[in-house]
Amino acid sequence: MKKFKNYSVFLRKYKNLKVLITGSTGFKGAWLSYWLFILGAKVVGVGLRPEKNSIIFKSLKLNKKIKQYYIDIRDLKKLDRVIKKEKPRIVFHLAAQSIVSQSFKNPTETVTTNVIGSTNVLESVRLNKVPNLVYVTSDKCYLNLDKANGYKENDTLGGLDNYSSSKASAEIIFNSYYNSYFKSKYLNVASVRAGNVIGGGDLKQDRIIPDIIKSIKLKKNLILRNPSSTRPWQHVLEPLSGYLLLGNLLMSKKLDNKIKPNWNFGPYEKNCKKVKEITKKILKKIKSNIKVIIKKNKNFHESNLLSLNINKANKELGWKPTLNFENTMDFTVSWYKAYLKGENLEKMTSNQIKLYTSKIRIIKQ
Ligand SMILES: NC(=O)c1ccc[n+]([C@@H]2O[C@H](COP(=O)([O-])OP(=O)(O)OC[C@H]3O[C@@H](n4cnc5c(N)ncnc54)[C@H](O)[C@@H]3O)[C@@H](O)[C@H]2O)c1
Repeated sequence: MKKFKNYSVFLRKYKNLKVLITGSTGFKGAWLSYWLFILGAKVVGVGLRPEKNSIIFKSLKLNKKIKQYYIDIRDLKKLDRVIKKEKPRIVFHLAAQSIVSQSFKNPTETVTTNVIGSTNVLESVRLNKVPNLVYVTSDKCYLNLDKANGYKENDTLGGLDNYSSSKASAEIIFNSYYNSYFKSKYLNVASVRAGNVIGGGDLKQDRIIPDIIKSIKLKKNLILRNPSSTRPWQHVLEPLSGYLLLGNLLMSKKLDNKIKPNWNFGPYEKNCKKVKEITKKILKKIKSNIKVIIKKNKNFHESNLLSLNINKANKELGWKPTLNFENTMDFTVSWYKAYLKGENLEKMTSNQIKLYTSKIRIIKQ
């Protein structure tokens, strides 16, 4: 495999490239769309209209920067029409019903979006011979055994809740498409599993950082559901850097085809912290004294301990996290401080991408 000296080299590959992102109106998809826009890619977005309280797509003015299609990925015909027309060189699939609590309230929406919708993406990529695909699932696709050392890519898939089982199912279908169609043919594909992603711009319900920010903004008590749950926290730019690196290697056909196409992009073990530790840190950095109330979640199952083993991405791709825990918190808090003060969020986002890119370490291969 050709060695990269640093990240800017692999990011250059995206200049003028037609990239299609599903989930472009969501948290991670909007950051990815914006990063690719800065890199000079021709970005096509697919997703539902941004939710009422969502801020990231609007504050980055993405409707003026990318070609956006507001369609439901459960509609294969519509999705197929877009992919056929746009002929992307690579698809990053991020669209999903992404909230665990929501998957209890509305299991069929979760399954139809995450399983049928994802199958539609695979099918449309296959029918239109899109040459490259990065297919995003989740760290929750692994059968949770509250393992202390992180899950590896070949660990058993499974899910004790509707969200996790939908992501495990999406992985099983991905693997069947890979073995049935893509493996020995024209298509370079990868499924990717990130940790608990944080960073500016996320205001989804029942996610800890958005919950903190909304409590501060509305001057309301903060309710913690699972204070002792441990999660692999990482800044949104970290998994996205992994997806972009992998995308480059897929497009350049630089990956040994004997390597299985599933990849973890989690943080270092030191970033695996309890919900209460994260909360304390954020409140301290943001200098807030809102009241925190612990109200244990008895309504639905959530795993206690979750972490990812990232040795494969490190060994085979040379990828590793760039930000330590303090940097991760600082990036996140400074974005939300700007939001609370009504400052320019596009400028904040572009500065963070520039700073992150300059910090990315040399990849040793
Ligand atoms: N945020 C995290 O901590 C995290 C961690 C691991 C994995 N993931 C995965 O990463 C991906 C992106 O997560 P996110 O945090 O940006 O989620 P998000 O909820 O902020 O965004 C979801 C996106 O999917 C789109 N979408 C939902 N249903 C759709 C449908 N039926 N048709 C078309 N588009 C639809 C939404 O419009 C939105 O653009 C998801 O697959 C999620 O499961 C997220």
